[in-house]
Amino acid sequence: MFRLCVLASGRGSNFASIVEKIEAGEVPAVVDVLVSDNPQARALEIARQHGIETAVFRREDYPTNKAHNQAIVDFLKPRGIDLIILAGYMRIVKAPLLEAYPNRVINIHPALLPSFPGLEGQKQALEWGVRYSGCTVHFVDAEVDHGPIILQAAVPVEQDDTVETLSARILKEEHKLLPRAVTLIAQGKVVVEGRKVRILI
Ligand code: GRF
Repeated sequence: MFRLCVLASGRGSNFASIVEKIEAGEVPAVVDVLVSDNPQARALEIARQHGIETAVFRREDYPTNKAHNQAIVDFLKPRGIDLIILAGYMRIVKAPLLEAYPNRVINIHPALLPSFPGLEGQKQALEWGVRYSGCTVHFVDAEVDHGPIILQAAVPVEQDDTVETLSARILKEEHKLLPRAVTLIAQGKVVVEGRKVRILI
């Protein structure tokens, strides 16, 4: 079975959507472990409710970001992880992890990249006045919210949207997009060709 590690720092709704779709038989994979940097993350509770192993690596327990990343790699290596999913993981993933899992780390971002990378993608889109925003699943590379794009979904931005209403509209799409991307990767249908991704059909 295709083995996933999900990294999450907070609420964990994207993690939950993957778990629910695995349990429904819609995603051909298994979550091996949920890793968090935040002992208070609700994602940890969700994992426990579903009988999924958890591990916490607090950044303050390591001297550098690199050492923190290395500790996670050392923990994951013996587990035979096929794909690492950043689902609301609020830390920048560095070389040790990316080198150990080349083209095997994906992220979900709440905007249509390359627009509005970084924090608060929904707020940035609203402030810019775009008519459409959405979400992006992409491979992670050394730059933030930058790697090859796997899937995107667009939503309209309404005139009276607040950050909350727009975020909710985007989140609904996130919950479909990330499991779809995981399924395609698990099925071997995702090929990285330089900056671009080809989906085999
Ligand atoms: C999502 O909006 C995701 O796109 C962003 O962080 C948020 C995480 O939400 N990277 P959740 O923890 O999955 O509910």
